[in-house]
Amino acid sequence: MAKKFYITTPIYYVNSVPHIGSAYTTIAADIFARWHKMSGDKTFFLTGTDEHGAKVAAKAKEEGKEPQQFVNEIAAKYQAAWQNLNINYDRFVRTSEENHLKAVQTALQYMYNKGDIYQGRYEGLYCRGCEQFKSERDLIDGKCADHGTVPEKMSEDCYMFKLSKYQKKILAKIKSGEFKILPQEKKNEIIAFYEKEGLNDIAFSRKNVSWGIPLPWDKAQTAYVWADAFLNYLTGLGWDGSNPPTPLSKGGAGGLKFWPPSVQLMSKDILRVHATIWPAMLLSLELPLPQALFIHGFLLVDSKKMSKSLGNVIKPEEMIKRYGVDGTRYLLISATPFGNDGDISWNKFDEKYNADLANGLGNLVARVSNLLEKNQIATDLSGEINKKLNKKAGQALADFRPDLVLSDLWLVLKKGDEKISQEKPWQMEDKNKIKKVLQPIAQDILDAAKILEAFLPQTAEKIIKQFSQKIIKKEAGLFPRI
Ligand code: MSP
Repeated sequence: MAKKFYITTPIYYVNSVPHIGSAYTTIAADIFARWHKMSGDKTFFLTGTDEHGAKVAAKAKEEGKEPQQFVNEIAAKYQAAWQNLNINYDRFVRTSEENHLKAVQTALQYMYNKGDIYQGRYEGLYCRGCEQFKSERDLIDGKCADHGTVPEKMSEDCYMFKLSKYQKKILAKIKSGEFKILPQEKKNEIIAFYEKEGLNDIAFSRKNVSWGIPLPWDKAQTAYVWADAFLNYLTGLGWDGSNPPTPLSKGGAGGLKFWPPSVQLMSKDILRVHATIWPAMLLSLELPLPQALFIHGFLLVDSKKMSKSLGNVIKPEEMIKRYGVDGTRYLLISATPFGNDGDISWNKFDEKYNADLANGLGNLVARVSNLLEKNQIATDLSGEINKKLNKKAGQALADFRPDLVLSDLWLVLKKGDEKISQEKPWQMEDKNKIKKVLQPIAQDILDAAKILEAFLPQTAEKIIKQFSQKIIKKEAGLFPRI
């Protein structure tokens, strides 16, 4: 029976245009989704944009635009960026969609009716950059650790969510592995947080943030932007917010048959909310928790966080211009073991591009096809999937190591290249001898390309087409040297 695979990225804030960080998560998700689709699993890949809240409203105002017009423009930029990176999502969800709005209201009303949301008052600190409530402990020199800004003092009447009620249940599910947090060190970190600090009830609505979803029972308040945002993972599947869960329509985006997520990808900056508020909301809604959260690292430029003020921001479109779409996908995914922080720079990218793509894969394909064509050698390659390579790649992906799939394949390619240099088939006269050297290497290239379809779709397709001919011909270079 075909397995089900549901993968999500965070939905991205529209206060800024797509950057290399959001591209990194999205490319990784795309690779996992393509792999599962190729393997015959029933796969759903959801991404989208997080469009409400004070931060977005402020940005719209700064640009002299109505919030809806502003978010439409930025959401379109995300969609264009993902299209340029060849991201094959199944649905792009936007939190300002009417369907999402209604579903969030229905869900919050359900939580309110059962007493999990109650009238209260919040007094404390709030970081608008994170759109998160902060305790003194979270701050470094009084400033938000992620944003370097002094959080605002907030004191207002609001509705609170009984987060504390779910502490025990969630912690037990994390510990037992029913709700996996990966890698292990992130699981430990969250368990320590639960055990040392624990969960306090949190403000779940705002009085003075009009760019949000009005609470159905008190229209003077809007839903806390994270409460609104989390539900995208359900509304993106076509859920109408009701309990028991009902799809919006039969024609909805895949229906709820995909629930719960197999894995939700994100970076460490939003792990804590995903490991506390999000599962608590699901328990309140009486829905199953995601099977796993996978926390990848941060991409740093020359060991520093990317920021406009440092002038070290690398944009996906600049990378595409220099390295092509597949070059960009390759360089980002191979930059670091998935799960670790990665230090990137233009210099490193240039070097790796030349070594692995121009001189590596590109040159090997050119060498082999050139020699085969020149000597008019008919190959008889197997079009079957290489079970051994495939199994190894599948295992690395099950371990959340797409980078490892690439480095393993590159070892195979490198061996082929070395073999050609040793055997020097260009000095040989006997066609059979030449074939004996080149055919296994051509087979390796074709086998690798079948796996690379999930990683470098355009390049893989070209190679598969080229190497599926009886007489393989030389084609235009895959990766021009920089
Ligand atoms: N809107 C929230 C998420 C809501 S999900 C219900 C949000 N959006 S965000 O636009 O700020 O994107 C955060 C995500 O972008 C991170 O979790 C991570 O996936 C990615 N990254 C942003 N910068 C990054 C790097 N420099 N490196 C790697 N990924 C980082 O938070």
